[in-house]
Amino acid sequence: MYPLRRNRRLRTSEAMRSLVRETTITPNDFIAPLFVVEGKNKKEEIVSMPNYFRFSLDLLEKEVKELWSLGIKSVLLFVKVPDNLKDNAGTEALNNNGLMQRAVRTVKNSVPEMLVMTDVALDPYSAYGHDGIVSEGKIINDDTAAILAEMGLSHAKAGADILAPSDMMDGRIFEMRSLLEDEGFHETGIMSYSAKYASAFYGPFRDALDSAPVDAENIPKDKRTYQMDPANREEALKETLMDIEEGADIVMVKPGLCYLDIVRDLKNKINIPIAVYQVSGEYAMIKAAAEKGWLDHDAVVLEQLTAIKRAGASMIASYFVKDAVKLIS
Ligand code: PBG
Repeated sequence: MYPLRRNRRLRTSEAMRSLVRETTITPNDFIAPLFVVEGKNKKEEIVSMPNYFRFSLDLLEKEVKELWSLGIKSVLLFVKVPDNLKDNAGTEALNNNGLMQRAVRTVKNSVPEMLVMTDVALDPYSAYGHDGIVSEGKIINDDTAAILAEMGLSHAKAGADILAPSDMMDGRIFEMRSLLEDEGFHETGIMSYSAKYASAFYGPFRDALDSAPVDAENIPKDKRTYQMDPANREEALKETLMDIEEGADIVMVKPGLCYLDIVRDLKNKINIPIAVYQVSGEYAMIKAAAEKGWLDHDAVVLEQLTAIKRAGASMIASYFVKDAVKLIS
């Protein structure tokens, strides 16, 4: 009872505050997403993601060395696929010498200890900008899941440590895990985007990879038949428990800030690591406000990352990881 208890006693100095701090972010928590393009000596800034770039393989090599030197030990690879290689069958996704497969080998050659995670989804390879095969206005689930499993296997063969399916087809974790086991890839991890919402915050990412759903007749304009409804909370637990049963090692909630209630729900109920993806639109919002001088960029970045971890994330994929580790070191 006041004045026997004065809560402000524990806030009197930075030394005191740091002594009682419940959550700290460290470089160990972070996954750096990386966008890869064909070509040489390319470092292209993404218009809607200021100070974030697509790298050609030669510069990717340098970038991962820099990340490693900063203490960042995992990367999540995405590729921008040339238009002429896109189709409605994921053909190029299965090319053992495709850009993703070469990118995995490049990272492993450059920094062998770096943990390499790969995006497994068809949208960068899809002529229609969807995460699966499109037929008669629908995204075909089971055929897509089978291709995703093959795609994952091809990444594993290239040296990927963790496959990260971001597509939200039903049963794809089971398909992928079964194929990996059959083929002897017992140690390849799966980080499932298990509670991935149909969010408007993915816009800048689709600019980065030129992967937005195309506007054409009989092609769904959005991803609402496979990604989750932002209004749903209970469903996130159902999705996540199923992915764990099917063999996921790590599960993910995406986007970040708007979905921290989901992160905490899961944290209270499951016992495997939870990843959170702070997505491109979240990055763009902070950059835009900071450019106008309306927010303190660095402070907001650290506050958001801390909040994500406090909610229950074991790890965070974020376009701010380089900024963050420089700020906390
Ligand atoms: C697609 C994919 C998306 C992101 C990661 N993988 C976009 C989408 O679902 O349309 C978004 C990441 C971001 O916005 O940063 N498989």
